[in-house]
Amino acid sequence: MNSRHLIDLNDFTTSDWQRLIRLSQDIMDTPQDYFNTCQGKLMATLFYEPSTRTQMSFQSAMLRLGGSVIGFDNPLNSSVSKGESLADTIRIVSGYTDLVTIRHPLEGTAQAAARYSSCPVINAGDGGHLHPTQTLTDLVALTKYKGSLEGLTVGLCGDLKNGRTVHSLLKALSRFSNKFILISTKELALPTYIKDVLNASGCQFEEVYSLEEAIPRLDVLYMTRIQKERFFSEEEYERQKTVYILDRQKMLSARSDLVVLHPLPRVDEITPEVDSDPRALYFEQAKCGMYARMALITCLLRDEAVHYYKELPISRPRNDIKCTNPKCITNHEPSLPHTFRESGGMYICEYCDERIILQ
Ligand code: CP
Repeated sequence: MNSRHLIDLNDFTTSDWQRLIRLSQDIMDTPQDYFNTCQGKLMATLFYEPSTRTQMSFQSAMLRLGGSVIGFDNPLNSSVSKGESLADTIRIVSGYTDLVTIRHPLEGTAQAAARYSSCPVINAGDGGHLHPTQTLTDLVALTKYKGSLEGLTVGLCGDLKNGRTVHSLLKALSRFSNKFILISTKELALPTYIKDVLNASGCQFEEVYSLEEAIPRLDVLYMTRIQKERFFSEEEYERQKTVYILDRQKMLSARSDLVVLHPLPRVDEITPEVDSDPRALYFEQAKCGMYARMALITCLLRDEAVHYYKELPISRPRNDIKCTNPKCITNHEPSLPHTFRESGGMYICEYCDERIILQ
């Protein structure tokens, strides 16, 4: 692999992904062959935001590989509560450990962490931006349950605006030849920067409102939770939260080989009666996540990852430009250098991918 961090799955090549998927499958089939792979290694899990699956699957993965884990799941119990910066926290923790996994409510935080870390950093979710290890999980699950990552009609339904799992998955699946049906209200539509990725990929996509109309056409239905914690207004959340509910009635018009995935946690968007449908594979998908993370940890901690490591290019800091995304880490950690990629007359924040057009 040519990056020793995992910030965005797109930093890895398609052959890296294929290698990780094959390794995940091998670990799933013969876990005993991997019990001592990470003996003597220590991983930190820094969770500034709640998690069940990501945190515990990372911890289980490292423990099953023979390594150990330290960290926090409540930053208020760490010196973050005394005002310690992200940069200093990462400098310290990466000095103690071999690998840092970080989840944070602000976008671009994992990228910022990687700049200060002396060991590999894994993005375990940064605000509504990206969630690459969920995507790796989804790719492993799709390979297992559909046998392929291409030629699929994939419906993504719910909070496409704030769903970082949706953003990461679309970026990944658009590397292959797939068709996407984006099912959402206008308020929760996919952000433009992900639509730009789809347009550039040449993959067909359409935006629709009705789940009932879309479901008969799908090979895969990826349901998502309406992300209450990302709304600025409770009223708006209340308006959106019950628009899409997958129930037994809707499943009647779906194909017999449909695969229903959901990154979980779910709230009301899939009724419990759907759980016993053989096409509902979201609990199996979550288990794939542990094997995917075992494969990722194994690869990042192998000597070859460091051998192939190339410094990712970082642009010259621009003190005259400010990221316009209020949830970008650069607007909360003043000491971070503001860096941007230039593209088509725009400046793209190197942390959160916000597009900035200077007047
Ligand atoms: N899918 C996912 O990220 O779940 P958690 O928030 O429980 O980690």
